Amino acid sequence: MVDSALIQFLRLILCQVMPNLNESDTDGRNSLMTIAYKNEEMLRMVDSDAATVDRRIFAEQDIYELELERIFARAWNFMAHGSQIPNPGDFFMTFIGEDRVIVVRDNDGKPQVLVNTCRHRGNAICRAEEGHATSFMCTYHGWTYDLKGDLVGVPGFKEVYHEELDRENWGLIKAGQVDTYKGFIFATMDPEAPGLEEFLGEVGRLGISYLAERGDLQAVGGIQKYTIPCNWKLAVDNLFDWYHVGITHSSAMMAGIGGAGRPTGVTSELTREHFVMLGEYGHAVGGPKFTPEYVERAKARGMDESWRDRLEVIREMGQVALRSIGHPSIFPNLWITEGNQMSLRLPKGPHSTEIWWFTLIEKDLTPERHKQVLGRANHVFGPAGMLEMEDGENWGESTHGAMGLISQRYPLHYAMNLGRGEVIEEEGGPPFIEAKVNEHGQLWTYRAWADWMAAESWADLKANHTASPEGYA
Ligand code: FES
Ligand code: FE
Repeated sequence: MVDSALIQFLRLILCQVMPNLNESDTDGRNSLMTIAYKNEEMLRMVDSDAATVDRRIFAEQDIYELELERIFARAWNFMAHGSQIPNPGDFFMTFIGEDRVIVVRDNDGKPQVLVNTCRHRGNAICRAEEGHATSFMCTYHGWTYDLKGDLVGVPGFKEVYHEELDRENWGLIKAGQVDTYKGFIFATMDPEAPGLEEFLGEVGRLGISYLAERGDLQAVGGIQKYTIPCNWKLAVDNLFDWYHVGITHSSAMMAGIGGAGRPTGVTSELTREHFVMLGEYGHAVGGPKFTPEYVERAKARGMDESWRDRLEVIREMGQVALRSIGHPSIFPNLWITEGNQMSLRLPKGPHSTEIWWFTLIEKDLTPERHKQVLGRANHVFGPAGMLEMEDGENWGESTHGAMGLISQRYPLHYAMNLGRGEVIEEEGGPPFIEAKVNEHGQLWTYRAWADWMAAESWADLKANHTASPEGYA
């Protein structure tokens, strides 16, 4: 009661200085967080004109907690690929923000997303990372839930609850919406969110298509998981970053990761043609352009590019999309590589990120090709890979560099090629930018981040998010 009264008092004071405080927001904790970072300040964290980003967004606990509320609890989060839970009762454990959720196929064949906490005393109702179940029984006192999350069993229902427990209202907490796009299962906790296809937009849908359209996919058993001591956004940022390759990965390249034909050295990546597509709500595709030179380089490295032939015949993706090798980011934290892998960057506090790698392989691949794809999956990224260990060192140090009192006064620089990326519109795909190595994708991600963090609700975000750029980006 005292806390509540204090919060209301603070709220009244702050209303005087911040009159646009959302009056309907009555939850004490959330109200105070909203007040502390009221929207204008969130927008100022990213200076679009100067192309700078305030370091505090990579370090501060309060900003991180607001991200959980305004980004992760609001966005459509990638949950699992359908092939991971093919049959009723199959489940996979994952996260929405820091909430642990179970993705389970119910007896009607529909994916359900259930928060993994018992409604009685909060114990986990499932402890396995994946598996098969006919129901979920809490091992504390035995409350039991079916595959839709309904409470169907309560020990002592007659004897100690006197048949008065309202079981219909004590089922598991469920996602606000669950939907699937081309086999990729997503969920949002926000019932007010737009539908999945609208959220993804043209660029997000293309991003998923780069992997989904390879064929009938099967997830390889076992998700690679490991922790890097960094802010999650720095791991997202890096997926667009081809500036670092010749420096950060010079040792990996000297060790032969790119194959014998791959140039090495500081400037080895700087002359490549790139192709960028910037979509609503922060989705983007940014990476090398698909050119004859790209094919020659790939062949020289011994890479099997048969997948490219496969994509060439898929008209749905359109001629614009086919000019990119595909390197999509689905906001906020799903990266789909140009190969057979995709990765989640799961937030674990402002200074810690869990990296999860999924590998999806076409069911009709030859055994040799299957082995080749698995080898690449094991040795490029992941805990036994050569690249992300090098990247992770940088992200950890960048996070540390965002934590200092003095260093926080100096923003980070995202202006590479700023204003020089002509946005070209052609039929058959979204607008695109052709450029050399650039930071359009990163800056776009942070602009969208600020939109999400400043929005009071989905209605606010829909009305006020940054439109895809026109002219020059
Ligand atoms: Fe689950 Fe009591 S905590 S039954
Ligand atoms: Fe890297």
